[in-house]
Amino acid sequence: MLVDTHVHLNSHKFKDNLDEVIQRARKNDVEAMIVVGYDKETNQKAIEITEQYSFIFATVGFHPTEAKNVTNNDFELLSKQLEHKKVVGVGECGLDFYWDKENIEKQIEVFQRQIELSLAINKPLIIHMRDASEATYNVLSEYDRLKGIMHCYSGSPEMAEMFIKLGLHISLGGPVTFHNGVKPKEVAVMVPIDRLLVETDSPYLSPHPFRGKTNEPSRVKLIAEEIARLRGMSYNELAMKTTNNAYKLFNIKENE
Ligand code: NI
Repeated sequence: MLVDTHVHLNSHKFKDNLDEVIQRARKNDVEAMIVVGYDKETNQKAIEITEQYSFIFATVGFHPTEAKNVTNNDFELLSKQLEHKKVVGVGECGLDFYWDKENIEKQIEVFQRQIELSLAINKPLIIHMRDASEATYNVLSEYDRLKGIMHCYSGSPEMAEMFIKLGLHISLGGPVTFHNGVKPKEVAVMVPIDRLLVETDSPYLSPHPFRGKTNEPSRVKLIAEEIARLRGMSYNELAMKTTNNAYKLFNIKENE
């Protein structure tokens, strides 16, 4: 009854225990997972994993920290991969001025090309934003009819409001469970329920009490429980609503 909308099962961290991690997630209420690619290699790997599990879907794209290396040929391959029936979105893409301040123009160009692909094929964007809230907003606000996710959103509630007005969803991960996760906790309460999603971003950002450890999709339950507590609603209701949001946004039919 949960969907982990952002998990890197394609990371080398899961190369030895992939099936075990997937089965553990299934035992902890996770009925579907979206494996997110971030470069040529992990995009391919994400697609391969979807071919082994009916309840796993993929997105393919180029992460902003990879933008400097992306070529036209890479975009051609990406367009082909986006036709795959288990590929349900474009990304992870976006802007990251924390890890890469040297290639801002190239980051913006690679992001824009992915936004245009998303609009052309009507599959949602998975948006990464770090130390680049305003720039990300400025790029996105040039477009109409956007569909997508501000993934593991860590910005202010005020900016969240602006992204929601652009038509985007807000996805929360492990930081909402941290004792010092003040902003994510505020955001967890203000996002309209029909725009809210949950994710782990595994293997990163493990929720409390596993902070600092390798994360895995079974822990999306801890994130959903904390958001339900903050919003004063039942875990079951929060799980049901966020899962419906994910299926609708990614155009996944239940029990597919
Ligand atoms: Ni990610």
